[in-house]
Amino acid sequence: MAEIRSIVVIGAGQMGGGIAQVAATAGIAVKVLDAFPGAIDKCRGLHDKLLARAVEKGKMTQGDADAAKGRIGYLPIASLDVVSESDFVIEAIVEDAKVKRDLFAQLANATRAQILATNTSSISITEIAAAAGDAADRVIGMHFFNPVPVMKLVEVIKGLATSEKTTLRTIALATAMGKTPVPANDRPGFVSNRVLMPLINEAFYAWMEGVAEPAHIDEIMKLGCNHPMGPLRLADFIGLDTCVHIMDVLADGLNNDRYRACPLLKQLVAAGRLGDKTGRGVFEYGK
Ligand SMILES: NC(=O)c1ccc[n+]([C@@H]2O[C@H](COP(=O)([O-])OP(=O)(O)OC[C@H]3O[C@@H](n4cnc5c(N)ncnc54)[C@H](O)[C@@H]3O)[C@@H](O)[C@H]2O)c1
Repeated sequence: MAEIRSIVVIGAGQMGGGIAQVAATAGIAVKVLDAFPGAIDKCRGLHDKLLARAVEKGKMTQGDADAAKGRIGYLPIASLDVVSESDFVIEAIVEDAKVKRDLFAQLANATRAQILATNTSSISITEIAAAAGDAADRVIGMHFFNPVPVMKLVEVIKGLATSEKTTLRTIALATAMGKTPVPANDRPGFVSNRVLMPLINEAFYAWMEGVAEPAHIDEIMKLGCNHPMGPLRLADFIGLDTCVHIMDVLADGLNNDRYRACPLLKQLVAAGRLGDKTGRGVFEYGK
């Protein structure tokens, strides 16, 4: 199978920026696109900072950091035509089914890319692929974890129409990026969020029912279950709004109210306490 030498990442946020950085560090040329020029500038600034830090810490040489930076091109989304030259596209835009479907419909027309991968954390791959029409066999879930440079896993999710060739190439790219690809089927939440989110939700119930204070709930799970981060701290890191969104996907997709988001979790979101990104969620983070 031919080596994948260049990719396009659409969405220069937390995840897209991380995916681009890891690919470039692994020697793959990357073009990062975003609908908002401000997001592109922020992504470039973050790459400069993170690569400089890796050099300072002795994790890479200045030469390797410069070479990685040289492999990344930053572009406004208007240049969707660059996608047509690429073999492999990874979408990492907002977690909104309609916005993703619209993008995949455009991509299916704009590109001959062999693979159109989505980094969605919960939306059905089959549904996104349907928007790509005849290109549905080239659509696949390639679910990276946050922070991308640190987390080893890529959950690889086949939609109903995903071809074997698409799956094998996706596994090859994840491996070339130094990640460990693991397959999961296209069911609500896949494996990671199907198992993790109910755990996080239950921690909110434990807090709401006064079983323990938030810090104690986290301490018990860290020390007793060997979790590196307590579930409530992790919820803040993911974003409480995202947690509610994923619980909604589980409850609706599995048609079972036991997956409904805890009222206390929803209340914090209603109050604008979304976690790290707003400086306050379960815990306070200051500015
Ligand atoms: N944050 C996580 O922990 C995490 C983990 C795994 C997967 N994901 C998934 O990755 C995707 C991105 O999440 P994120 O946390 O990086 O979000 P983010 O908000 O940090 O970044 C999204 C980026 O997409 C851009 N964007 C939005 N609509 C666009 C469009 N139509 N065209 C081009 N660019 C557009 C935004 O400007 C933004 O820069 C989502 O599908 C999310 O579910 C997130």
